[in-house]
Parts: sequence; C-alpha cells; structure tokens
Amino acid sequence: MKVFVTGVNGYIGAVLAPYLMERGLTVLGLDTGFYRDGWLYSDDRHFPCSPLTLNKDLRNVVLQDLEGCDAVAHLAELSNDPLGQNNPVITHKINHKGSVSLAETARKAGVRRFVYTSSCSVYGAGTGEFLDETAPPNPQTAYAECKVLVERDVGRMAGLDFCPVFLRNATAYGPSPRMRFDIVINDLCALAWTTRHIAMLSDGSPWRPVVHVEDICEAVYRSLVAPEDAVRGKIFNVGRNSDNYRIREIARIVADEFPGCEVTVGPSSGDNRSYRVSFDRIEAELPGFQCRHSATDGVKELHEVFERIQMPKETYEFRAFTRLKQIRHLQATGQIDDEFFWR
Ligand SMILES: NC(=O)c1ccc[n+]([C@@H]2O[C@H](COP(=O)([O-])OP(=O)(O)OC[C@H]3O[C@@H](n4cnc5c(N)ncnc54)[C@H](O)[C@@H]3O)[C@@H](O)[C@H]2O)c1
Repeated sequence: MKVFVTGVNGYIGAVLAPYLMERGLTVLGLDTGFYRDGWLYSDDRHFPCSPLTLNKDLRNVVLQDLEGCDAVAHLAELSNDPLGQNNPVITHKINHKGSVSLAETARKAGVRRFVYTSSCSVYGAGTGEFLDETAPPNPQTAYAECKVLVERDVGRMAGLDFCPVFLRNATAYGPSPRMRFDIVINDLCALAWTTRHIAMLSDGSPWRPVVHVEDICEAVYRSLVAPEDAVRGKIFNVGRNSDNYRIREIARIVADEFPGCEVTVGPSSGDNRSYRVSFDRIEAELPGFQCRHSATDGVKELHEVFERIQMPKETYEFRAFTRLKQIRHLQATGQIDDEFFWR
C-alpha cells in the first residue's frame, strides 16, 4: 500500500512515517515545512526512514501528486486552538477548504482510503461528563469548527468508491523529533526537567483525555488497513477511557518522574472547558486497535530523551517547538505572506 502522508514533517507525521514504513507500507510525504527549523533528536528509527517528501502547500496539491497512491493520511493543518485563533480566516482556508479539496482530488485520482486526523476538541466546553462520538459537537474555536466542517463535508463523500475515516485524537504526548512543547504533557515534562517546578495558574481540576503519539500512529495504521466496511465514514475517538485525567493529576505524574520537582496549584479559574471522552467505540470497532502506552510510560520516555540530549532551557523555549511562536516568527520576518504561502 502506498500512502500519501500530509504533515509528514510535523510532530505526529515524523513518528507516523517510520511507523508505517516499518509495517511494510510505502510513504510519500507532503509538507510545506513551517516547523523544519526544529529537530529535537535523532535515533535509529529515523535514519533509514526518511520518506520521499513533496515540499508543497496542501492548497496546491494536484491530481498528479496522488498518482499511484492507494490511501491518504491527512495531518497537514494549523494544528491547535491558539494557532487557529491567531488567524481564523487562514485557518478556514487551510484546515477546512484545503482538507476538503484534498479529499476531492484524492477521490478523483482513484484513491479509495482517506484517514483524517480530527480532534477531541470538537466536543468543546463540557462539564466533566463522558462524551462519545454521538454527542453533538460544540466547537469553541476556529480550529475545532474546521474539524467539524471537514468531518461533515468529507463524510458526505463516503461511498462505494471512497472510504473516509475520521480519528478524533485526544491531546497527544510523547517524544517526536519534530517536538511540540505546546501540548500539555510534553510542556509539563520540559518544565519539570528545566526548572523542577510546575506552577499551575489554576486549580488543575478540568478533565483532559490524552493519548501517546504512537497510539495515534497505530490508529492511523489500523484505519488504513481495516476492511472498508468496518470503517467507511466512521468517526472514532482515539485514546482509552483510563487516560482521561484532571490536569493536576497529569502534573503529579510528571512530578513523580522528575526527582525534586514541586507542584503548586492556583485558585479555581472558572474555566468550564472540561470533558471526558469515551473510547469504547474504537476498542470495539476498529479491527486490531489497542492503546499500548500509558501517560506514565510517555513521561518516562520524554525524561530519557531530555537526559540523553541534556536538553537546555533554550531548546525547550525554542520557537520551532511551539507552533504559534514559529508561525508568528515566519510572519514577522516576512518569510510567509498574508495567506501563509512562502515568499
Ligand atoms: N498533537 C495533538 O495533540 C493532536 C491532537 C488532535 C489532533 N491533532 C491533529 O493531527 C494533525 C497533526 O498534528 P501535529 O501535532 O503533528 O501538528 P504539527 O503542527 O506538528 O504538524 C502539522 C504539519 O503540517 C504542516 N502544514 C501545515 N499547514 C500546511 C499546509 N497548508 N500545507 C502543507 N503542510 C502544512 C506543517 O508544516 C507541519 O509540519 C493536525 O491535523 C492536528 O490538528 C493533533
């Protein structure tokens, strides 16, 4: 199977490409390279597994790019809430329009399988109840709104010739060479490593589901190889029920891994963005899928990487490891234009 992986130079993409290649799939990558300034570490997995990659914007993909591909795993988007809020108009152009247009081009090119990385953020504000895939989406940001729109528009394209699958990922964690320190576990681990102090501004009571980056890769892999009838047009929350944590519990897990790390909590913030997610469907209905990593494992792995590279504070704070910082840098230095195309 030849898979066209968009966003291959991103946090998840850099782990996904070798993950798929190790399992015998051929990968053709696409990425515009917003975060290529950042590479945290190399290991044995990444040397032999550098897929051929088109250095191209998602919005410029043409039929020929997809020739010979059997499937698309689509990750390339502006990838979090603050980034979306930074420029909601461009977020709609890339994340919504760009993704739907990619799906249409893929279908025209005869690509049957289309795996889309959606997000649990579509559930938006909640009050701590368990939400499953049948709960009405309640997006609070341009980023989450676009995820809902792509699911809707690409979902309508499902048919005998086209098999889209939607993976609503929990917040990811774990090492990737294209590291992100703007997601909660990775951020708290780097904070614990560099300062031995996790100072929470709020009381840390909100619930958040989290999932290891390799378990996301496993979900993508299983969605690519599952029989069409098992997954066509389906939405799956990606994670597992036991990995719904309160933020302060996550802080505790992190602090326990880094000796001498102190946790302080602030007052209740009145922030009502708190949700727990049910992962029953993916466990029951995505053939072969199982989450294999716990938050504790992921925190240990991050610690090992920081130790191995003796990560300094400057690296933790480096712009390319925080998506919004890097995009602002590219804008401020005139490297990308108002439409986020390279100049
Ligand atoms: N990391 C998480 O916690 C998480 C959780 C839920 C969903 N997701 C989704 O998974 C996908 C990948 O997330 P990630 O954490 O790897 O993000 P990331 O920002 O690290 O990677 C996204 C990649 O896409 C590329 N890209 C962005 N816009 C592009 C464009 N117009 N054309 C071509 N390439 C473009 C970027 O250069 C980057 O390499 C995203 O769609 C994200 O919304 C991520």
